Amino acid sequence: MRSTIVASLVVLTGCGQMMMTMADAGVPELTCDPAVTTPVTLSATVQAQIFDKQCKSCHNAFDASNGDYSDAARTAAAVAKSSKVAPGLKVLEPNNLGKSVLWLKLINRKGPAGEAVGGVMPPGGALPADQQKLVKDWICTGGT
Ligand code: HEC
Repeated sequence: MRSTIVASLVVLTGCGQMMMTMADAGVPELTCDPAVTTPVTLSATVQAQIFDKQCKSCHNAFDASNGDYSDAARTAAAVAKSSKVAPGLKVLEPNNLGKSVLWLKLINRKGPAGEAVGGVMPPGGALPADQQKLVKDWICTGGT
């Protein structure tokens, strides 16, 4: 009987520690919101609300070297590529904020393994929180 109690305590404590470690490892800015399940898409929302307004003045066919975001088809092709500023990462990795250079640049932080991604986008200053959230939910619901 006594050994059963001790064994149960060990199991419970072990489990609690594991959960704490997992929570500590989660960086909020790099963690998708599980409550958002309805896909946010490029063609229906993100192209018009973000790329057209905030990005394509620079990211267009005249200088496509950093990604041409001038319409939904071009944006989709550009974000599927490997990043120029952080070659080990994609511009957008579906459902993975920490591996998406586009997201890391919007929130102005390095990747989880310390990958440098250069300056914040847009260069004039970070987007307002509601616009950042739209991009986050787009990446987190498949990035299509
Ligand atoms: C004023 C011009 C300008 C605007 C506006 C701008 N960018 Fe950029 N962007 C650049 C330049 C220049 C670079 C290359 C240097 C760098 O990475 O900082 C770049 C690089 C990037 C890269 C890296 C591409 C790669 O292959 O690694 C991403 C991603 C990016 N921009 C996303 C965005 C997004 C998203 C927006 C809109 C929210 C945006 N940019 C707005 C000028 C701009």
